[in-house]
Amino acid sequence: MKYIYEEKAGPNGPTLLLLHGTGGIESDLLPLAGIIDPNANVLSVRGNVLENGMPRFFRRLEEGVFDEEDLIKRTEELHEFLNEASQKLGFDRKQITAIGYSNGANIAGSLLFHYKDSLQKAILHHPMVPRKGIDLPDLTGTKVFIAAGDNDPMCPPEEAEELQQLLTNGGADVDLHWESNGHQLTMNEVKAAASWYAN
Ligand code: MLT
Repeated sequence: MKYIYEEKAGPNGPTLLLLHGTGGIESDLLPLAGIIDPNANVLSVRGNVLENGMPRFFRRLEEGVFDEEDLIKRTEELHEFLNEASQKLGFDRKQITAIGYSNGANIAGSLLFHYKDSLQKAILHHPMVPRKGIDLPDLTGTKVFIAAGDNDPMCPPEEAEELQQLLTNGGADVDLHWESNGHQLTMNEVKAAASWYAN
């Protein structure tokens, strides 16, 4: 996978995993890392799938309808990439906080849905429920911050609440933050994520 790595915390400190939205690239969310934790290592990845030239982390059949088979395959690919990258780049595999927006939040959610201990924490900006009707791994100890829009046309509020419920049922500790700016990633929610992370 194409990525940017910035070593700041060394092998024993935390690492922020940045996952862009549809049509984004690996440099898009770098400013967020500086706000959430300027002292953490940063691993920012580009999605491997192209939709009309726009990078994504997995295929979709139409807006809001995911290609489940591809989602499962790409989630495994990202999980294994993290295992290998931690060895190669020398960061602690157990201290990864994902920061994802939209499609990037959905693949981060999918890592949580499929793998125990893939992420220590996750900050999900405008996520959806990645898959319905599956048993989640034991997520005890995993901390999740969801920023959702009460008027988000792409990721409706009920979906954010369902995601919170499913992750909580899996044992995760989940905070849900509301905004009213549609599907936009706002500075206000980034600041709320930063204070959640700091605590
Ligand atoms: C997705 O496909 O992951 C969601 O519809 C959000 C997006 O368009 O990126």
